[in-house]
Formats: sequence, C-alpha cells, structure tokens
Amino acid sequence: MKYGHFDDQQREYVITQPDTPLPWMNYLGCQAYFGIISNTAGGYSFYRDARLRRLTRYRYNNVPMDFGGRYVYLRDDESKQFWSPSWEPTRTELKHYTCRHGMGYTAIQSEYVGIEAETRYFVPLDENLEIWQLTVTNRRETTAQISAFASIEFCLWDAQDDATNFQRNFSTGQVEVEDGVIYHKTEYRERRNHFAYFACSEPGAGFETQRESFLGRYRGWDRPASVEAGELKNTIAHGWSPMGAHHVKLELAAGESRQIVFVLGYHENPVDEKFDPPGSQTINKRLVKPVIAKYLDAIQADAAFEKLRVYWDGLLSVFQVDTPDIHTNRMVNIWNAYQCMATFNMSRSASFYESGIGRGLGFRDSNQDLLGFVHMAPVRARERILDLAATQLPSGGAYHQYQPLTKRGNNDIGGGFNDDPLWLIVGVSAYLKETGDWSILHEPVQYDNEPGSEQPLYEHLQRSIQYTLDRVGPHGLPLIGRADWNDCLNLNCFSDTPGQSFQTTTNKDGKVAESVFIAALFVHAGRELAAIAKHRGLDAEAARYIRETEKNVKVIADHGWDGEWFLRAYDDFGAKIGSRECEEGKIFIESNGFCALAGIGLHDGKAESAMKAVGKHLATKHGIVVQQPAYSKYYLQLGEISSYPPGYKENAGIFCHVNPWVMIGETRLGHGDLAHDYYSRINPSAREEISDLHRCEPYVYAQMIAGKDAPTFGEAKNSWLTGTAAWNYYAIVQWILGIRTSLEGLEIAPVIPKSWPGFTATRVFRGVVYMISIERKGQGNAIALTVDGEPIQGNVVPVPTDGRKEVVVNGILS
Ligand code: GLC
Ligand code: GLC
Repeated sequence: MKYGHFDDQQREYVITQPDTPLPWMNYLGCQAYFGIISNTAGGYSFYRDARLRRLTRYRYNNVPMDFGGRYVYLRDDESKQFWSPSWEPTRTELKHYTCRHGMGYTAIQSEYVGIEAETRYFVPLDENLEIWQLTVTNRRETTAQISAFASIEFCLWDAQDDATNFQRNFSTGQVEVEDGVIYHKTEYRERRNHFAYFACSEPGAGFETQRESFLGRYRGWDRPASVEAGELKNTIAHGWSPMGAHHVKLELAAGESRQIVFVLGYHENPVDEKFDPPGSQTINKRLVKPVIAKYLDAIQADAAFEKLRVYWDGLLSVFQVDTPDIHTNRMVNIWNAYQCMATFNMSRSASFYESGIGRGLGFRDSNQDLLGFVHMAPVRARERILDLAATQLPSGGAYHQYQPLTKRGNNDIGGGFNDDPLWLIVGVSAYLKETGDWSILHEPVQYDNEPGSEQPLYEHLQRSIQYTLDRVGPHGLPLIGRADWNDCLNLNCFSDTPGQSFQTTTNKDGKVAESVFIAALFVHAGRELAAIAKHRGLDAEAARYIRETEKNVKVIADHGWDGEWFLRAYDDFGAKIGSRECEEGKIFIESNGFCALAGIGLHDGKAESAMKAVGKHLATKHGIVVQQPAYSKYYLQLGEISSYPPGYKENAGIFCHVNPWVMIGETRLGHGDLAHDYYSRINPSAREEISDLHRCEPYVYAQMIAGKDAPTFGEAKNSWLTGTAAWNYYAIVQWILGIRTSLEGLEIAPVIPKSWPGFTATRVFRGVVYMISIERKGQGNAIALTVDGEPIQGNVVPVPTDGRKEVVVNGILS
C-alpha cells in the first residue's frame, strides 16, 4: 500500500494520508540553521548543533509518536470548532490532506469545513530563520470568521539538559514581547549572546508565552485550552516552559484567501552590544529587527523561496540521467542526491532516530559521505576534509568522532577503530578525482588540533597508511582494534557488564584479532594513494604502496580465503570469523563485498566465487544481509554484533550501507543485471508499493531493513542519516551507469542491465558539461567512445584544454 506518490516534475513526494506508518520526515535548511519536519508538522529546529543550540522542543520516543512541532491551529469562531490543518496535533479527520516534501521545504495543505489551508515551511538561504507561509482560503459560500493560531515550544538551548535538568530549568525561562514579536531569552542574562524569536506578519489578537496557560492544566497540544476558548491570554513566561503562540483573526468573504507569514529565527548579538539600552537587561533588537521585517513580507518570502529552488536546481543539475528505469532516475536525479546533502549537513546528528544529542561527526562516516556530495559541494567538501584531517592523531590514528561546534576529536568515544584512518584517503581521493584541485595536498593541517603540529595534508595520508602497517596481527592481516567498519564486531571488548559501551570497553591487548575487511580497505586505499603519488611524480613512493597492497592481497589469499568466500576476521583467540567452520556467522558481506570492490580475486576466480556465495547465502528479496547464520546468542568474544536479536542491525540485518559494495563487486565482474537487481531491491522508490511493510519514507534510504531472521523481515528503520545515501549514489552513478571520476578525467564504463537499450546523462565535471549518450548494440560491457564525433582510445574522456565548455560523448556498448 502507498501513502502518496512521487511528483518528479516538482521534485516532491506527495503524501496523501497523514497517518503514515512512521513520521515521514524532511529537512529544512542547508547551511547553519536547520530543522527536521514530519508530514504532520512535527519536528524541531536548531542552529548548527542539534544538541547545544536547539531552538524548539521535540519529544523523542513519545506516545503518540512525533510530538512537538510547528503547529498551526484554525478555529471557526462561529461554530467554535478547531482543528490542525497539518492533522497533528488535533488529528481531526480532514476533508483532504496533502503534504509535499520538496527540496528544502515542506508544504502541508488540507481542507476542513470549507476552510482550506496551506502552510509552506522553509529556511531561506544565508539566513538563520525559518518561514511559515500560511494561506487560508474560504471555500464556503458565506463569510467565515476564522481564528488562526501558530505555536512552538522553546527548548532551553542545550537539548540534553533541557530533557533532564528540571530542578534548574523550571526556573530559568525568560521571554520578552515587543511589537508583537516573541523573544526567547533564557540564559541571555548571563553567558549567551543569542536568542530566538517568533514573529507574525499580521497584527495579533493576542499571544501566549507560558505553555501551561496556552495548553491548560493537564492538557496536551491536541486540545489547547486557549485555542478552544478562541483567546490567548498575553502571558509572559517566568520559568517553567516558555513558548510562543500568535493569534490572528480573519474575516474571509466567500472565496477569499489571506496569507499570514510567521518567522521563527535565531540571532546572535555582538557580546558588547547584548543589551539596549546598554546596562539594561533588555535584548538589543536593533540588528535583528530589519531581518524580521524583511521576511514577514510575503513578497520577500516568495523571493527567498525562489532562490532556494534555484539553489537546488544548481546542485542537482551537476548530474542528471535518463534511463529506462524510473526508480533509478528519480533516486539519482532527485532524492538520493538530496539525501547525500542531508548526510553531509547533518552527519548522524538529527533525525527521527538520531536525537541530536548523541553522536558527533564520525571520521569514517564523514569521509564516506563525501563520495555522495563532493560533486555538488566541492568547496564544502574541501573544508570538511581539512577539518577531519586536523583531528587525526600523530600516530595516524583517528578519533572515531568529532564535535561539529568545536571541530575537536571527541575523547569520550576515543579512537582505535583501525579502519578509520584509511577512509581519509578514500575521501581525499574522491575530492581530487572530482576537482583536480591538487593544492589541497599542500594545505598545512594540524594533528589533534595542536597548534604547531601542522604538516601538509599529504603527510596525513601517508600516516594513515603507516598506521595500518604498524598494526599487523599473527597472520599478517591488519589488527582490528575496537572495531572496523562494522562497529559492532568488537573483538577486544569482552564485556559482561550491563550498560558498558561496546564501543569503548577494551579488555584485551588487541594484538591478536585481525580484520580481513581492513586488509581489503587497505588494498583499495593503498592503490588510491599510489595513484596520487604517481600523479605527483613520486614514483618510488607509489611503488612502495603498490608493494604493500600486493602483500596484503597475498595475505588475504593465504589467510583470508575460506575456500568459497573471504573470511571476515580472526578473533582474540585466533579463531576464524565468517568461515564455513563457524557454527554461526559463517559468511559476511563486508569482506566479500569490499574485496570484490577492490578488485581482489578478480583474475583467479575468488571474487566470482565470493559474489556467488553472497548471492546464495546472504541475498534476499529485500536486500543483502550482513551475515548468516545470524547469531542466536550473545558471544562474549564477538561483542555488540551478537547483542542484537537475529535479523536486526549488524546481526544479519540488511545494512543498506554495505549492499553497494556487492553491487560494485558485481559490476567489476561485468554482471550488470545482478548489480542493478541488488540496487533495486533496496531502492526506496522501488519499494514504495510495500510501504506498509517497509514503513520508512519511500524517498530516502534507511540504514537498515530487517533481515530474513527477523519476524519483521523487510521492515526498514533509521532512515535519512546513513552512509547508505553516499554508497548507493556512488554505486549506481559511478559503477552501474559507470560515469566515473578519475584523476585523468571522466571515465565512462557502464555495466548496465542487458535489457537496457542505453541511457543518456549530463554531467558537469571540472567546469565542463558532458552530454553523454550510451547505446547498447551488443550484450557485453565493452565500450567504444566518440568525443564530439571523434573516436578516442580507451574510456577516459580527457578534460578539454581548448576552452570548450560542452562536450558530446557517445558510447556504444557491444
Ligand atoms: C553505522 C555507523 C557506521 C558503521 C555502521 C556499521 O552506520 O554510523 O560508522 O560503519 O553503522 O556498524
Ligand atoms: C550502535 C549501532 C551501530 C553504530 C554504533 C556506533 O552500535 O548499532 O550501527 O555504528 O552504534 O554509534
């Protein structure tokens, strides 16, 4: 069953039934001010850091779910009936309802008792505020007296503290109201120089800033006493829970429409100009007032919305494709690219599943995210790389996470995830291939943010390699450390104490447990760095990296091969993981997928055999599971992976993040049909028809789909913020469609389904527009290219040196 449909023209997903299986979310904002918003207006807003600068409250894991939001209420002042045009929070049955989630905006429209309402929410570019444009239309044949209310609940900035420290928080809340604008100034009197505000374009009939007064005792957002009464009491909050509500009275003739604009925003004052007059305790509003006035003007709001559209047009036009498969097209052209930008902006901080108070930016996650957005935002990718590298430790190791506000390594989570440093090479390589900006390698970058420790970025990459070489186990494979890509394979943890973190507990010296996956990643990263070194004329160094990667290829063949597939690891006792000898966890996706992706075993049949085994033992109709058989009990020596019930998360769930490694592996074997088939099994758009089972949004990937061992096989969880976005984008674009960036230019090597007659694409690459059309004439993957009508050797289209800004590329597959 579906709950809506795609509108590809408008780049929107249109939800037509409000009670979706889970809240279906969207993001507002793309620079510094952000919000999450559900299809029924739930969600919250923050400035830069979802934990430390949270503007509004949201109640995670609440019943009913998805509570706290940007709530508008309408009230028919004659019948005294009131309702929420976004369905929540009153859940009144609406005559019709649509929620359009688009690129950086959400518009919710509905009709009830002849009154139509649409609210469009978005964040203008370059501003720290959000706009709600509410349009109310009277569809009756007679005049209507309508009250419109808009409300938000302020969060007292630090979301963690806000949800726990009530002995203090119930006494700190403060607001000011001036010219109808509600200013939230909790803690402004002391160390904060920022405040929030909530403004309304129309002269108000009243306001409210004290939550209990607005809602009434023991009432919730579904039945606020003040809305019921049709009157706000102009309260000024002292302590408790400051909020903002505005009341506007509308008299609408038959057919008449009126627009009200609400602006919710964040503002920082210079520290020495906090108060006006100086010495008082009143917020200095001189700097913020013009901003508020500007966006309360509907014409300005519309213009800002138009700018946002143009911005997204620009980002998405960097790569557009037209294939015979609609699900491929809309994910690549719209939603997958959009999700990649969300993972870049949010990392893993704020979603319906990430509470915004937990994790910082992951070192490995952020480097992988780069694969999905570097073509749209190269300048920001550069900045991200330098930030990440500056948290690297002198040993070459990495903090597992860093905090976005301070940009410092997060000591609480620590480091020692031995795959982490290698991802920096993957990220930098993707950046170089995209931009050709070699200057980045010369950027001086600190280690552990220590002033004076600056070394060129290139040296950071060298140390990443050295870090792995310095940590080799008994079989000559890289030591795993706390974990590798699979955060839950904690082979040195041995935790039997409830509540201990699997991620940071270590009871072993870490000198035995080895990872075949890291060996494969090393081969991949080592070759990337060798190519970079070679490009710079460092031939001896390049040769050394190649020698080291070859050594690892051999170790994998000698100690990482199980006869039919690649092993996963060796545990602290030196016992195999991911072997036919194991009782459970005989075969894993990561080592097999990544070996094939890295081209290991391509010529001796190992990759072919491994991919077959993955197809046989791990692939399901809903995607490829992490391992089989699932762990049926907790294994002290394996850690968190065996803590999950079978079929969930790393314990044999379908981790959508790693499925692309197998897709890429299949393309390396020339299997376009299978690669695209795997791609389609987890493609959210292709799963739209089974929304009741899948439950998460049909327009973005979820991190996980329950595996075949789970009672809920096929159910997705943890949508939006996952490496799945970047990897699937990278797999389909660069390996299946085969439009691949390389250091030398744009490589064209499609491995597409046999049934496709071809496809066309446009790609803006290093300032040049490539108009690509691929035609299938035979059943294979061999390609012959012409560039502007001239045949070329090989399949790399060189970047034009004669100033041409458009290049026509034709490819014939035979
Ligand atoms: C989560 C983490 C990622 C990890 C994966 C597998 O997605 O963010 O870093 O690789 O889980 O454990
Ligand atoms: C949990 C999750 C895993 C994630 C890890 C790191 O273990 O199951 O997916 O990578 O936390 O935060």
